[in-house]
Amino acid sequence: MKITKAVIPAAGLGTRVLPATKSMPKEMLPIVDKPTIQYIVEEAVAAGITDILIVTNRGKGIIEDHFDASPELEAILEKSGKLDFLETVRGISNLANITFIRQKEMKGLGHAILKAKSFVGNEPFAVLFGDGAIVGEKPAIGQLIEHYGEFGKGVVGVKKVDAKDIHKYGSLKVEHIYDNVFKCTDMKEKPQTPEEVLSLYSIIDRCVLPSEIFEILENTKPGKGGEIQLTDAMKEIATTVGMTAVEYTGTRYDMGNKLGILQASIEVGINHPEVGEDFKKYLKEFAKTL
Ligand code: UTP
Repeated sequence: MKITKAVIPAAGLGTRVLPATKSMPKEMLPIVDKPTIQYIVEEAVAAGITDILIVTNRGKGIIEDHFDASPELEAILEKSGKLDFLETVRGISNLANITFIRQKEMKGLGHAILKAKSFVGNEPFAVLFGDGAIVGEKPAIGQLIEHYGEFGKGVVGVKKVDAKDIHKYGSLKVEHIYDNVFKCTDMKEKPQTPEEVLSLYSIIDRCVLPSEIFEILENTKPGKGGEIQLTDAMKEIATTVGMTAVEYTGTRYDMGNKLGILQASIEVGINHPEVGEDFKKYLKEFAKTL
């Protein structure tokens, strides 16, 4: 089955990067010259997604503006002959059919996904977290979609995390199938004791879900932090019909985290076609002073 719809939850408060996120959504923080959420939309489009719902909240209207047409700016760029920029600006508003919905109360990621129920209908759909940019040759979400087709089950995108950090993530029970593909039969959100850790594999920012998730979410009680946790709902699918876990290729930058923001600027910056070479020279000199 072709997967054409994606949901991007982008309503989180971004408290870990305050004060930057006091009035600026973390999803709009740039990696060199492009906002994080544009990398994410481009990844979805490269994987064949045509319809995207972005879940926002109060104060995140500039995300909507970014994907809208910009007639005044376009007219100025055209008049001044800045045709490359004109093409770039026009391209953003034509990337996909993008719609928006507001999550009025911050009741967690599961609650944000539930807002997409009528947009999604009865089809499987992709989920891409609005603060996780993944840079690589193959779109990460496309790798997950391929395996949805192969096994017909929900797919979670995973990476191995450091043992000292697993308590901040969800931990998955996995069985290796082949290469980077695993069966996922259980999960635990933010394990607090060594006994609760199922493995060091954790869901990192991407999944493909069956529409049955909505009914489960509607009956999911608030979990960790009083929030409706997506992991708690996915656990029900993992422990019954099972899910597939795919360790996707590509480097993921956590733009909801100060260190992730710095890493993204440096690693994407050194490969940037316009400034990459100069930036590399600068970094090499600067590194000598450290
Ligand atoms: P995070 O836990 O990273 O978001 O959620 P957060 O709440 O912004 O983080 P901090 O702790 O305050 O820094 C992962 C994804 O889920 C979205 C976020 O926008 C992010 O893309 N999210 C989270 C929602 O859309 N709604 C929520 O209620 C919570």
